[in-house]
Amino acid sequence: MKLLVFLVAACAVVYGQEPQPCIAPKLWEARMSRIDPAKRFYERARISYDAINRRVRIIEEVNIKEQRDFFDVLFLHEVGKEYKFNLRTKECAVSAIAEPFRPFEVPPNATSFGESYIGTGAFPGEGVLITLWGGEVEQPAGRYMATFTNSGCVPVEDGFCTERFGCVHTAFYDVVAGISDPNVFIPPRECE
Ligand SMILES: *[C@@H]1O[C@H](CO)[C@@H](O)[C@H](O)[C@H]1NC(C)=O
Repeated sequence: MKLLVFLVAACAVVYGQEPQPCIAPKLWEARMSRIDPAKRFYERARISYDAINRRVRIIEEVNIKEQRDFFDVLFLHEVGKEYKFNLRTKECAVSAIAEPFRPFEVPPNATSFGESYIGTGAFPGEGVLITLWGGEVEQPAGRYMATFTNSGCVPVEDGFCTERFGCVHTAFYDVVAGISDPNVFIPPRECE
């Protein structure tokens, strides 16, 4: 009986600590790296992200696949347009946006997979406490597994698998709140 009381109490403690979906920031800039097994590349880029007006700009900086062009891509979901500027040839391709906007947020019905330290929790300043989340979304249809910082709900990592594109892994670094230059969401001159 004593054991049962103890177990019930232990369950209550664990349940009480279950993280609730957090609210991620809606305007930020960061560095990112992305691995896309289908395209077989790993790249680093700068991202400016505006979830309020549903626009994203990604400027590629480094990739390990040689002979590949670098792109500066602007996604304006409100007008359904994608501007893909080739940084080598200086040519711009404007097209209809291929995929619906998917925010880097924790969906309200996400399943919690607990908390972990990136790095280590053993030394002060050498680790970041993150929360892990997973589930499914319908627009665009796919399964995700994502991590966010425990304080601030800043996106850290995102894995997203769709039928069409396979699984794409993205990691964010040096996230800074806000957009330093609002012109970043104006298409490059070459695209007009
Ligand atoms: C959450 O909601 C989406 C629809 O928005 C649904 O497709 C999914 O099955 C739900 N459950 C989980 C655990 O993601």
